[in-house]
Amino acid sequence: MSATGIHPAPHDVLVTSRPLDEYCALFGLTRARLAALPGPLLDCPGGAAGLAAEARELGCRVIAADPAYALPLPVVADRARAARAAMAAAMAARPHLYPPPHPHRPERYLRSWDRARRLFAADLAAHPQQYVAATLPRLPFADGTFALTLSGHLLFAYPELFGPESQLAALAELVRVTSPDGEVLVQPLCDGHGRRCGHLDPLRYALGERRIASEVRRCASAEDGRARRVLVLRTADRRRRAGARQSTVAGRSLCNGQ
Ligand SMILES: C[S@@+](CC[C@H](N)C(=O)[O-])C[C@H]1O[C@@H](n2cnc3c(N)ncnc32)[C@H](O)[C@@H]1O
Repeated sequence: MSATGIHPAPHDVLVTSRPLDEYCALFGLTRARLAALPGPLLDCPGGAAGLAAEARELGCRVIAADPAYALPLPVVADRARAARAAMAAAMAARPHLYPPPHPHRPERYLRSWDRARRLFAADLAAHPQQYVAATLPRLPFADGTFALTLSGHLLFAYPELFGPESQLAALAELVRVTSPDGEVLVQPLCDGHGRRCGHLDPLRYALGERRIASEVRRCASAEDGRARRVLVLRTADRRRRAGARQSTVAGRSLCNGQ
Protein backbone atom coordinates (compact mmCIF):
# COMPACT_ATOMS: atom_id res chain seq x y z
CA MET A 1 0.00 0.00 0.00
CA SER A 2 1.22 3.53 -0.73
CA ALA A 3 1.58 6.39 1.71
CA THR A 4 -1.86 7.57 0.57
CA GLY A 5 -3.47 4.37 1.83
CA ILE A 6 -4.53 3.47 -1.74
CA HIS A 7 -3.49 0.11 -3.13
CA PRO A 8 -1.69 0.77 -6.40
CA ALA A 9 -3.20 -1.19 -9.26
CA PRO A 10 -2.14 -4.81 -9.48
CA HIS A 11 0.65 -5.20 -12.00
CA ASP A 12 -1.27 -7.62 -14.17
CA VAL A 13 -3.89 -4.93 -14.92
CA LEU A 14 -2.85 -2.87 -17.94
CA VAL A 15 -2.79 0.92 -17.56
CA THR A 16 -4.18 1.68 -21.00
CA SER A 17 -4.22 5.05 -22.75
CA ARG A 18 -7.29 5.31 -24.95
CA PRO A 19 -8.22 8.61 -26.61
CA LEU A 20 -11.62 10.31 -26.39
CA ASP A 21 -12.74 9.06 -29.81
CA GLU A 22 -12.17 5.45 -28.75
CA TYR A 23 -14.13 6.07 -25.54
CA CYS A 24 -16.99 7.42 -27.65
CA ALA A 25 -16.89 4.33 -29.88
CA LEU A 26 -16.74 1.90 -26.96
CA PHE A 27 -19.52 3.48 -24.90
CA GLY A 28 -21.75 4.69 -27.73
CA LEU A 29 -21.19 8.35 -26.85
CA THR A 30 -20.81 11.46 -28.95
CA ARG A 31 -18.82 14.62 -28.38
CA ALA A 32 -22.12 16.52 -28.42
CA ARG A 33 -23.48 14.42 -25.53
CA LEU A 34 -20.31 14.96 -23.53
CA ALA A 35 -20.45 18.70 -24.18
CA ALA A 36 -24.07 18.84 -22.99
CA LEU A 37 -23.59 16.96 -19.70
CA PRO A 38 -25.17 18.91 -16.81
CA GLY A 39 -22.38 17.93 -14.39
CA PRO A 40 -18.99 16.21 -14.11
CA LEU A 41 -18.19 12.84 -15.67
CA LEU A 42 -16.44 10.10 -13.69
CA ASP A 43 -14.00 7.84 -15.53
CA CYS A 44 -13.20 4.91 -13.23
CA PRO A 45 -10.78 3.41 -13.94
CA GLY A 46 -9.18 6.31 -15.79
CA GLY A 47 -5.88 4.57 -16.59
CA ALA A 48 -3.64 6.79 -18.72
CA ALA A 49 -6.52 7.89 -20.97
CA GLY A 50 -6.63 11.15 -22.87
CA LEU A 51 -10.31 11.53 -22.02
CA ALA A 52 -10.04 14.16 -19.26
CA ALA A 53 -7.70 16.35 -21.29
CA GLU A 54 -9.68 16.08 -24.52
CA ALA A 55 -13.10 16.46 -22.90
CA ARG A 56 -12.00 19.70 -21.25
CA GLU A 57 -11.80 21.20 -24.73
CA LEU A 58 -15.51 20.40 -25.06
CA GLY A 59 -16.35 22.09 -21.76
CA CYS A 60 -16.88 18.69 -20.09
CA ARG A 61 -15.26 18.22 -16.67
CA VAL A 62 -13.87 14.72 -16.15
CA ILE A 63 -12.71 13.29 -12.84
CA ALA A 64 -10.53 10.24 -13.42
CA ALA A 65 -10.19 7.73 -10.57
CA ASP A 66 -7.63 4.94 -10.52
CA PRO A 67 -5.36 3.35 -7.91
CA ALA A 68 -2.42 3.96 -10.28
CA TYR A 69 -2.61 7.69 -9.48
CA ALA A 70 -1.09 6.90 -6.07
CA LEU A 71 2.13 6.17 -7.98
CA PRO A 72 4.61 8.80 -9.22
CA LEU A 73 3.79 10.02 -12.74
CA PRO A 74 6.94 8.50 -14.36
CA VAL A 75 5.91 5.08 -13.00
CA VAL A 76 2.38 5.46 -14.36
CA ALA A 77 3.82 6.55 -17.72
CA ASP A 78 6.10 3.48 -17.76
CA ARG A 79 3.15 1.21 -17.06
CA ALA A 80 1.17 2.91 -19.83
CA ARG A 81 4.02 2.30 -22.29
CA ALA A 82 4.11 -1.34 -21.18
CA ALA A 83 0.35 -1.57 -21.80
CA ARG A 84 0.85 -0.21 -25.30
CA ALA A 85 3.47 -2.92 -25.96
CA ALA A 86 1.12 -5.57 -24.54
CA MET A 87 -1.69 -4.34 -26.78
CA ALA A 88 0.58 -4.46 -29.85
CA ALA A 89 1.52 -8.04 -28.98
CA ALA A 90 -2.11 -9.04 -28.37
CA MET A 91 -3.25 -7.55 -31.68
CA ALA A 92 -0.56 -9.50 -33.50
CA ALA A 93 -1.28 -12.76 -31.66
CA ARG A 94 -5.12 -12.66 -31.64
CA PRO A 95 -6.23 -10.48 -34.58
CA HIS A 96 -9.73 -12.07 -34.53
CA LEU A 97 -10.38 -10.21 -31.26
CA TYR A 98 -9.60 -6.89 -32.94
CA PRO A 99 -11.80 -6.76 -36.03
CA PRO A 100 -11.59 -3.98 -38.62
CA PRO A 101 -10.35 -1.36 -38.75
CA HIS A 102 -7.69 -2.19 -36.16
CA PRO A 103 -5.88 -5.17 -37.75
CA HIS A 104 -5.55 -3.28 -40.99
CA ARG A 105 -3.77 -0.38 -39.38
CA PRO A 106 -2.56 -1.39 -35.91
CA GLU A 107 0.30 1.12 -35.95
CA ARG A 108 -2.08 3.98 -36.61
CA TYR A 109 -4.35 2.73 -33.82
CA LEU A 110 -1.45 2.45 -31.38
CA ARG A 111 -0.26 5.94 -32.31
CA SER A 112 -3.63 7.20 -31.07
CA TRP A 113 -2.71 5.63 -27.71
CA ASP A 114 0.70 7.36 -27.79
CA ARG A 115 -0.98 10.72 -28.29
CA ALA A 116 -3.52 9.99 -25.53
CA ARG A 117 -0.72 8.98 -23.15
CA ARG A 118 1.11 12.26 -23.78
CA LEU A 119 -2.10 14.25 -23.26
CA PHE A 120 -2.74 12.32 -20.03
CA ALA A 121 0.74 12.99 -18.64
CA ALA A 122 0.55 16.72 -19.39
CA ASP A 123 -2.98 16.97 -18.00
CA LEU A 124 -2.16 15.08 -14.79
CA ALA A 125 0.76 17.43 -14.21
CA ALA A 126 -1.36 20.53 -14.91
CA HIS A 127 -4.62 19.45 -13.20
CA PRO A 128 -3.70 16.88 -10.52
CA GLN A 129 -6.94 17.53 -8.61
CA GLN A 130 -8.88 15.88 -11.46
CA TYR A 131 -6.98 12.58 -11.06
CA VAL A 132 -8.01 10.88 -7.85
CA ALA A 133 -6.22 7.83 -6.42
CA ALA A 134 -9.06 5.46 -5.59
CA THR A 135 -9.76 1.75 -5.68
CA LEU A 136 -13.09 0.11 -6.38
CA PRO A 137 -15.25 -0.98 -4.66
CA ARG A 138 -14.87 2.16 -2.51
CA LEU A 139 -14.75 5.64 -4.00
CA PRO A 140 -14.11 8.88 -2.12
CA PHE A 141 -17.04 10.80 -3.66
CA ALA A 142 -20.39 11.91 -2.25
CA ASP A 143 -23.63 10.31 -3.39
CA GLY A 144 -24.90 11.53 -6.76
CA THR A 145 -21.78 13.57 -7.64
CA PHE A 146 -21.55 12.68 -11.34
CA ALA A 147 -23.86 13.26 -14.29
CA LEU A 148 -22.33 10.29 -16.14
CA THR A 149 -19.99 7.52 -14.99
CA LEU A 150 -17.90 5.36 -17.30
CA SER A 151 -16.11 2.16 -16.33
CA GLY A 152 -14.14 0.50 -19.11
CA HIS A 153 -11.90 -2.54 -19.35
CA LEU A 154 -11.83 -3.56 -15.72
CA LEU A 155 -14.79 -5.18 -14.00
CA PHE A 156 -15.52 -7.86 -16.60
CA ALA A 157 -12.16 -7.79 -18.36
CA TYR A 158 -10.28 -9.20 -15.34
CA PRO A 159 -12.55 -11.93 -13.87
CA GLU A 160 -9.59 -13.32 -11.92
CA LEU A 161 -9.52 -10.05 -9.93
CA PHE A 162 -13.24 -9.25 -9.87
CA GLY A 163 -15.46 -12.19 -9.02
CA PRO A 164 -19.27 -11.80 -8.95
CA GLU A 165 -19.37 -10.37 -5.40
CA SER A 166 -16.65 -7.81 -6.15
CA GLN A 167 -18.36 -6.86 -9.40
CA LEU A 168 -21.65 -6.34 -7.57
CA ALA A 169 -20.02 -4.17 -4.90
CA ALA A 170 -18.10 -2.13 -7.48
CA LEU A 171 -21.13 -1.58 -9.73
CA ALA A 172 -23.27 -0.51 -6.76
CA GLU A 173 -20.55 1.95 -5.73
CA LEU A 174 -20.42 3.44 -9.23
CA VAL A 175 -24.20 3.91 -9.11
CA ARG A 176 -24.01 5.49 -5.64
CA VAL A 177 -21.69 8.27 -6.83
CA THR A 178 -23.80 8.93 -9.95
CA SER A 179 -26.74 11.33 -10.03
CA PRO A 180 -30.22 9.72 -9.97
CA ASP A 181 -30.74 11.48 -13.30
CA GLY A 182 -27.51 10.06 -14.71
CA GLU A 183 -26.22 6.70 -15.92
CA VAL A 184 -23.34 4.33 -15.31
CA LEU A 185 -21.96 2.76 -18.50
CA VAL A 186 -19.78 -0.35 -18.25
CA GLN A 187 -17.97 -2.23 -21.01
CA PRO A 188 -16.74 -4.66 -22.21
CA LEU A 189 -18.95 -7.47 -20.89
CA CYS A 190 -16.33 -10.08 -21.74
CA ASP A 191 -12.80 -10.92 -20.64
CA GLY A 192 -9.53 -10.35 -22.45
CA HIS A 193 -10.08 -13.52 -24.50
CA GLY A 194 -13.47 -12.36 -25.73
CA ARG A 195 -15.41 -14.74 -23.43
CA ARG A 196 -18.75 -13.29 -22.35
CA CYS A 197 -19.50 -12.95 -18.65
CA GLY A 198 -21.46 -16.09 -17.79
CA HIS A 199 -23.26 -14.68 -14.75
CA LEU A 200 -24.58 -11.40 -16.12
CA ASP A 201 -28.24 -12.28 -15.50
CA PRO A 202 -27.77 -13.24 -11.82
CA LEU A 203 -25.62 -10.15 -11.38
CA ARG A 204 -28.38 -7.96 -12.79
CA TYR A 205 -30.89 -9.68 -10.57
CA ALA A 206 -28.72 -8.91 -7.54
CA LEU A 207 -28.42 -5.29 -8.69
CA GLY A 208 -32.19 -5.16 -8.96
CA GLU A 209 -32.48 -6.29 -5.36
CA ARG A 210 -30.37 -3.25 -4.48
CA ARG A 211 -32.81 -1.03 -6.38
CA ILE A 212 -30.45 -0.58 -9.31
CA ALA A 213 -32.05 -0.79 -12.76
CA SER A 214 -29.97 -2.39 -15.49
CA GLU A 215 -30.09 -2.71 -19.25
CA VAL A 216 -27.74 -4.21 -21.82
CA ARG A 217 -27.62 -1.65 -24.59
CA ARG A 218 -26.27 -2.33 -28.06
CA CYS A 219 -24.29 0.74 -29.02
CA ALA A 220 -23.38 1.25 -32.65
CA SER A 221 -20.25 3.27 -33.23
CA ALA A 222 -20.13 5.90 -35.94
CA GLU A 223 -16.34 5.58 -35.68
CA ASP A 224 -15.93 1.97 -36.82
CA GLY A 225 -19.49 0.77 -37.53
CA ARG A 226 -19.36 -1.95 -34.85
CA ALA A 227 -22.12 -2.60 -32.32
CA ARG A 228 -20.98 -3.24 -28.77
CA ARG A 229 -22.79 -4.38 -25.63
CA VAL A 230 -22.75 -1.83 -22.84
CA LEU A 231 -24.20 -2.41 -19.37
CA VAL A 232 -26.28 0.63 -18.38
CA LEU A 233 -27.15 1.16 -14.72
CA ARG A 234 -29.18 3.75 -12.89
CA THR A 235 -30.78 4.04 -9.53
CA ALA A 236 -34.40 2.93 -9.39
CA ASP A 237 -35.11 5.90 -7.10
CA ARG A 238 -35.34 8.03 -10.20
CA ARG A 239 -38.57 6.19 -10.96
CA ARG A 240 -39.93 7.05 -7.54
CA ARG A 241 -39.03 10.70 -8.01
CA ALA A 242 -40.83 10.70 -11.33
CA GLY A 243 -43.89 9.28 -9.64
CA ALA A 244 -43.69 5.98 -11.49
CA ARG A 245 -45.62 3.00 -10.17
CA GLN A 246 -43.53 1.20 -7.57
CA SER A 247 -45.30 -2.09 -7.14
CA THR A 248 -42.90 -4.13 -9.27
CA VAL A 249 -39.59 -2.35 -8.98
CA ALA A 250 -37.68 -4.96 -6.99
CA GLY A 251 -35.81 -7.94 -8.37
CA ARG A 252 -36.26 -9.21 -11.90
CA SER A 253 -38.59 -6.43 -12.96
CA LEU A 254 -35.59 -4.09 -13.04
CA CYS A 255 -33.77 -6.24 -15.58
CA ASN A 256 -35.22 -4.71 -18.71
CA GLY A 257 -32.42 -5.38 -21.21
CA GLN A 258 -32.18 -7.80 -24.11
C1 LIG B 1 -7.21 -1.63 -18.79
S1 LIG B 1 -7.16 -0.14 -17.82
C2 LIG B 1 -8.65 0.65 -18.29
C3 LIG B 1 -8.49 2.14 -18.43
C4 LIG B 1 -9.59 2.80 -19.25
N1 LIG B 1 -10.87 2.78 -18.55
C5 LIG B 1 -9.75 2.14 -20.62
O1 LIG B 1 -10.83 1.64 -20.95
O2 LIG B 1 -8.78 2.11 -21.36
C6 LIG B 1 -7.50 -0.80 -16.24
C7 LIG B 1 -7.21 0.17 -15.12
O3 LIG B 1 -7.84 -0.33 -13.93
C8 LIG B 1 -7.10 0.15 -12.84
N2 LIG B 1 -7.50 -0.64 -11.67
C9 LIG B 1 -7.02 -1.82 -11.23
N3 LIG B 1 -7.68 -2.23 -10.14
C10 LIG B 1 -8.62 -1.27 -9.87
C11 LIG B 1 -9.62 -1.11 -8.88
N4 LIG B 1 -9.82 -2.02 -7.91
N5 LIG B 1 -10.38 0.00 -8.91
C12 LIG B 1 -10.25 0.92 -9.89
N6 LIG B 1 -9.31 0.82 -10.86
C13 LIG B 1 -8.51 -0.26 -10.85
C14 LIG B 1 -5.66 -0.01 -13.29
O4 LIG B 1 -4.79 0.82 -12.58
C15 LIG B 1 -5.75 0.36 -14.76
O5 LIG B 1 -5.39 1.71 -14.97
